Amino acid sequence: MKPQLHSVGPTGALPPSLHPQAGPARHGVPAWIAVGDTEDADQRLEDLRRGLFEPQAHISPKFFYDAQGCALYSAICELAEYYPTRTEAAIFERHRDAIARRLPREVQWIDLGCGDGAKSWPWLKPVAARRWVGVDISPQWLSLSLQGGAQRFSDVEFVGVATDFTRPLQLHHVLGQRPHWPRVFFYPGSSIGNFAPSDALELLHSVRDHLGSDGRLLIGVDGLKDRAILEAAYDDAIGVTAAFNRNVLRVVNRELDAYFDPRRFTHRAVFNREASRIEMQLVSQQAQDVRIGDAERRFERDEVIVTEYSYKYTRESFAALLREAGFGSAQHWSDERGWFHVFVASA
Ligand code: AVI
Repeated sequence: MKPQLHSVGPTGALPPSLHPQAGPARHGVPAWIAVGDTEDADQRLEDLRRGLFEPQAHISPKFFYDAQGCALYSAICELAEYYPTRTEAAIFERHRDAIARRLPREVQWIDLGCGDGAKSWPWLKPVAARRWVGVDISPQWLSLSLQGGAQRFSDVEFVGVATDFTRPLQLHHVLGQRPHWPRVFFYPGSSIGNFAPSDALELLHSVRDHLGSDGRLLIGVDGLKDRAILEAAYDDAIGVTAAFNRNVLRVVNRELDAYFDPRRFTHRAVFNREASRIEMQLVSQQAQDVRIGDAERRFERDEVIVTEYSYKYTRESFAALLREAGFGSAQHWSDERGWFHVFVASA
């Protein structure tokens, strides 16, 4: 049975038919999707357009992930050079029991940016999860993860929230439906690294605000390391990351009725040590005028469009960010090389 798609008002109030007492989120039954505070579609496109006309042109990384972009991102995660996914998975595999001992039992497990949900599944038994709440901007991903989860775990309640959490989280209402189950927020994959530190702080604050007294945050963060390793991870030998980066121009063409020719831009990934971040760029190969909607934007030869920042943290710098966001104690796990960090932080 496919989960149904329902709209939720701006306050996050669920339509009466979706309230738990009405029983739509019964154990073992594919759950519903609560469409939360999705970004206004016009505003989203206006921001994209404005970014391209700024003196330093930029495109938000959230535009990477159309169907093609998602497939390319999955391919990136398999690359020899792209170590974060497999390093985090190895830490989780090796330390799952120890990590789970730091988490409460009988929880609501909230997967931020859940995608297909696969990273969550190995955790649900160790924490005796009662409810899984997937949060993602894509209703398609949510639909997939809800169906996949409900098939695997017949005794867990499944809930999806379609929302863009580049803005403050508004999950109080949904989580408040199950007041007795502690909350564990799961934010793996170093996705926090794609936020500027001030925005990362805001998001962490917002998570902290939702934790309640016995909740936890389980988060994965990519570590600072040698330039050569970082730059190779974002500029692999067979050009998958380059294709991922250039694909965003096809998304822009579609969304804004624009005429970027991806062949006229090359991919570049540079590590900015001062800012502790990888910068992904598209570099114009020639002087060119590109039509974007009913306007034109000139790009000079070598002019750059910034498409993504991926911030890297030391154990100490991320622990400091957690403290600044109001978290109390935090436990930490890493791999032997210290390349990737996993934290469990409590309120
Ligand atoms: C999704 N995010 C954590 C990835 C990263 O490493 O910043 C996105 C990515 N960009 C290029 N390769 C992977």
